[in-house]
Amino acid sequence: MILVTGGAGFIGANFVLDWLATSDEPVINLDALTYAGNRETLAPLEGDARHLFVHGDICDRALVERLFAEHKPRAVVHFAAESHVDRSIDGPGAFVRTNVDGTFTLLEAARAHWSALPAGERELFRFLHVSTDEVYGSLGPNDPAFTETKTYEPNSPYSASKAASDHLVRAWHHTYGLPVLTTNCSNNYGHYQFPEKLIPLMIVNALAGKPLPIYGDGQNVRDWLYVGDHCSAIREVLARGRLGETYNVGGWNEMANLEIVHTLCALLDELRPSAAGSYARLVTYVKDRPGHDRRYAIDARKIERELGWRPAETFQSGIRKTVQWYLDNPGWIANVQSGAYRDWVARNYAGREVQP
Ligand code: NAD
Ligand code: DAU
Repeated sequence: MILVTGGAGFIGANFVLDWLATSDEPVINLDALTYAGNRETLAPLEGDARHLFVHGDICDRALVERLFAEHKPRAVVHFAAESHVDRSIDGPGAFVRTNVDGTFTLLEAARAHWSALPAGERELFRFLHVSTDEVYGSLGPNDPAFTETKTYEPNSPYSASKAASDHLVRAWHHTYGLPVLTTNCSNNYGHYQFPEKLIPLMIVNALAGKPLPIYGDGQNVRDWLYVGDHCSAIREVLARGRLGETYNVGGWNEMANLEIVHTLCALLDELRPSAAGSYARLVTYVKDRPGHDRRYAIDARKIERELGWRPAETFQSGIRKTVQWYLDNPGWIANVQSGAYRDWVARNYAGREVQP
């Protein structure tokens, strides 16, 4: 079996659902169910003996050690993190705790488990660390896309905490020989994404007739990847990645935020027209995110060259499926928009007076 951390979050839950749809290898899913964790996403696995959900914290060393001892996973796929940049600016402590201390705790427990394995099993063990392109910093308009050898220049508390975790993972390989793999991925989108990130927030706000808040001039560029493609990349790296290596994962799809939002408005105009007129009328410029990185771009040639992985979805196909999913699942949206979610939205957007 494999141990997945953060498997009730957006990407982790998609990964667990995809894994069990294509394999009978069981999953232990360790998740603290923070505001971003959602058991409802895992409802299709209710009663499925291949899925063991454990409500717990990756910083809890005794718990993590117990899971290794009882279940002897052959691999760890580590998603659990605090993942939202704006929240990291508002309160960085949780990011250092989970992303740095939590990764350290997992590495130490994995190392103790792996060291004690018989030779054959030791060789097969893997620790796959899921990270982000944000560790590489911000690009100018004509800079080449991030390769795996790009220097680390994290700019937000979130990306700094992820960079720290990447360095720990690297060191545990270099010093102790722990068989690690790291993936650095671009912006994901798709079903089950919590509506505090750009794409689901815009869909949910548009449907509610609320403003679509564009930070700054809306020209910040991200590379967008459909979540199912990210999950397939992780499966490939886990199966065949070279130990100690880093693989960049991206969608070959750079777009400015404003273009993303106009694409969403056009799709909603087609699929759920509003009597009040185009959803684009709701676009509202607000105060920028402090330290807002201007551009990210991923060079994903290494994973293609070594493992034959390329994204299957185009942005056009992936975003249409995503918008349709949010239209078809108003209950899921309503359930995640809890009191805690409303408090966050009020806090994050209160200080962002509308810009002309
Ligand atoms: P998410 O915020 O949706 O989910 C994170 C999950 O981790 C939640 O289920 C939460 O309950 C759990 N968690 C948080 N703290 C925990 C703790 N201390 N112990 C156990 N569980 C804990 O995040 P996501 O968007 O699914 O991202 C998953 C991973 O992928 C993260 O490591 C993130 O840095 C990385 N990543 C995300 C993106 C993206 O676009 N979303 C892109 C690249 C990399
Ligand atoms: O690049 C990978 C990263 O992508 C992941 O590591 C992070 O976990 C993930 O959250 C994401 O980070 P971003 O900061 O790029 O994602 P977010 O959806 O928060 O913002 C995307 C862009 O949209 C960014 O330039 C900020 C802008 N934005 C965001 C929000 C929430 C707005 O203009 N308005 C908004 O209301």
